[in-house]
Amino acid sequence: MMHDTSSIKVWDISIRLFHWSLVIFFVIAYITGEVETETLHAWAGYVIIALLVYRLVWGLIGSCYARFSDFIYSPAAIRDYLKSLITLHPKHYPGHNPAGGLMVILLLLGLMATSWSGLKAYEAEGKGPLAVSTISLTIPTAQADDWKHGKYQGRGDDFWEEAHEACVSFMLLLIVLHLGGVAVSSLLHRENLVRAMVTGRKPVHRE
Ligand code: HEM
Ligand code: HEM
Repeated sequence: MMHDTSSIKVWDISIRLFHWSLVIFFVIAYITGEVETETLHAWAGYVIIALLVYRLVWGLIGSCYARFSDFIYSPAAIRDYLKSLITLHPKHYPGHNPAGGLMVILLLLGLMATSWSGLKAYEAEGKGPLAVSTISLTIPTAQADDWKHGKYQGRGDDFWEEAHEACVSFMLLLIVLHLGGVAVSSLLHRENLVRAMVTGRKPVHRE
């Protein structure tokens, strides 16, 4: 496909599909977190885990701007970028800027913690992949049936459920900051970052 030279390709198609699928499945997981919709909730969570696995691999071997090495900056570089926001003329980066890069890492770590605590909370109910492996590897069959029928429930505390809820709250905070960061950077650099995450392209900067 021919493109004019006033824009460059930044986000490959897989990054864009990753991002918007993540948004959709995060919303589904968020609104199905109740007991009645637990199965759907778990499946939305599994999709998110698959997306995370993909993103970790792509962060190592993916296209230029998708790599962690492209957007992990030193604390000093992050501080300088944040300071330069106050001057209203921040330095422009084609990929994630240093603050954005830090946010991406926090979002990915937050999602990993949320998924892991979710899997453990599910296991505590005797369900999900962790429960299957615990049952089949460590518990004789008769006891495994007891487990499945809930006799092991409530033996621990609700630690993982609480941890899961705390992770979700942390994610909500990160997402608010994420959207704020996208808005501020879009305004100051006079470029629409949301459109770039849709089309994959950013206008070439002439500063
Ligand atoms: C409708 C709401 C959202 C919008 C408009 C949005 C927009 C964006 C934009 C524009 C970027 C690229 C930032 C840059 O140019 O440096 C981005 C990256 C990212 N966003 Fe969002 N976002 C939204 C919701 C979310 C949610 C809910 C999550 C997490 C659950 C999330 C996770 C991420 C991640 C992980 C990246 C990094 C992409 C990558 O390099 O793989 N976003 N987002
Ligand atoms: C990463 C995306 C996820 C999000 C955004 C998310 C969100 C939520 C929310 C909002 C709740 C309700 C918490 C409350 O009661 O206040 C919840 C509960 C729960 N989640 Fe997740 N979750 C995610 C992943 C997972 C995964 C992967 C699993 C396991 C398969 C899981 C298992 C559970 C369980 C067992 C509960 C408790 C249900 C109950 O008994 O009330 N979650 N989650």
